[in-house]
Amino acid sequence: RVERIVEELKLSDVQLRKVMQLLDDEMNKGLCKGTNPNAAIKMFPTYVRSIPDGTEEGNYLALDLGGTNFRVLLIRLNGSEVSMRSKIFLVPNFIMTGTAEELFDHIAECISKFMHEEGIADQKLPLGFTFSFPCKQEGLARARLSQWTKGFKVSGVEGEDIVRLLHEAIERRDDIDVECVAVINDTVGAQISCAHEDRNCQIGLILGTGSNACYMEQLDKVETWDGDERAPRQVIINTEWGAFGDNGVLDFIRTQYDQELDAKFSVNPGKQLYEKMMSGMYLGELARLYLERLVNEGLLFEGQSSDLLSTPGRFYTKYISEIESDKRDDFKNTKSVLEYDLGIENYSNADCHYVQYVCSLVSSRAAHLASCGCAVLLNRVARPSVTIAVDGSLYRFHPKFGDIMEQKVSQLVNKGLKFKIMLSHDGSGKGAALVAAVACRIRDEQK
Ligand code: BG6
Ligand code: GLC
Repeated sequence: RVERIVEELKLSDVQLRKVMQLLDDEMNKGLCKGTNPNAAIKMFPTYVRSIPDGTEEGNYLALDLGGTNFRVLLIRLNGSEVSMRSKIFLVPNFIMTGTAEELFDHIAECISKFMHEEGIADQKLPLGFTFSFPCKQEGLARARLSQWTKGFKVSGVEGEDIVRLLHEAIERRDDIDVECVAVINDTVGAQISCAHEDRNCQIGLILGTGSNACYMEQLDKVETWDGDERAPRQVIINTEWGAFGDNGVLDFIRTQYDQELDAKFSVNPGKQLYEKMMSGMYLGELARLYLERLVNEGLLFEGQSSDLLSTPGRFYTKYISEIESDKRDDFKNTKSVLEYDLGIENYSNADCHYVQYVCSLVSSRAAHLASCGCAVLLNRVARPSVTIAVDGSLYRFHPKFGDIMEQKVSQLVNKGLKFKIMLSHDGSGKGAALVAAVACRIRDEQK
């Protein structure tokens, strides 16, 4: 009976290949001028055209907004040497759902605090902004937010240039002199930071609070490109693949619980449907919905839930990682989550086994869907050897995500294409600083 309920989470290779075909089609729609306005996957050209060549130097500030933490960073680049200092600041809930002015005043205040603490408030520093939301870029330092994703819902930002909003907030304070010279997505940060060490790095992937990927595309394939036509005839595309399925094409694999999560738990129903099947903000809740069903059917904990397990959002994705880290049949973490985090008193070893099983099905499906995305991008890049830079809490903390992906991508990708998945370090800091350095160099050359 348990199996009958959870079976729908297992995707066959035939289904995964269909997902790949659909994703590839949707990506083509996003790149095409005529179909882009109605395309679910926006395939935004980023204006990042080349990977760093190792000669970048100088001091840069960076901002990282949109992942688990909001951070301000100071990065010193000196060829291949990179050093950085950073500080995490809170973004209170009322600001995440408040007004544009409140959000950007808060950001400017954090930059100012950081600069004063670091003793650099009197310096004029260029800043790279890692803004991990979908933006239509009109240049390296002009990016209009197309829509909020994840838990943010700040009024007055959608459709606006976030660099202008940031500069206005900095001017309102009048105590620091900072110019934002580049805005990048976190996927781009991951790719650029990794490409600094590995020139084969052509893809950036985030599996964290949200999920998204970017890759280097040939300009000839980017009909929507309206920038400079000169060499290098390539540009990094921020796919914003989280929105895959928003037009219904993934309905053939979405389950009753994917639908329930979207409708009742998320702040953006009907949006980011692929992301909701595979990122940290949602996987815990998905597992909880399956566990709740098993309890209600009397198949788990003798039909007795706890208040915590019955509370939406209270089964965190980190529990999945902890539970799946247990050694075979040693239910140490599982028991600790059940007892201490969820207040469940009566459970058997069989219950622990089912809880683990549900978690592993939810996370394997996520890893398989992410593998579809990676295989599609590898086929598009079509180079014999490509490195995929990956970052994000889900990938970092889950014990098996990487292994499952290595295996599945190998099965799905076109024959003859070799790939490597590499953890990217500090994309939002190092990546943003490297892009800012290139932006400053281009500007100086044009003067
Ligand atoms: C971080 C990057 O390590 O990973 C951020 O520096 C990125 O730029 C983040 O947004 C994504 O992961 P998470 O889990 O924090 O959403
Ligand atoms: C969401 C955002 C996207 C970001 C991803 C990972 O999908 O829309 O821009 O890259 O989360 O943080």
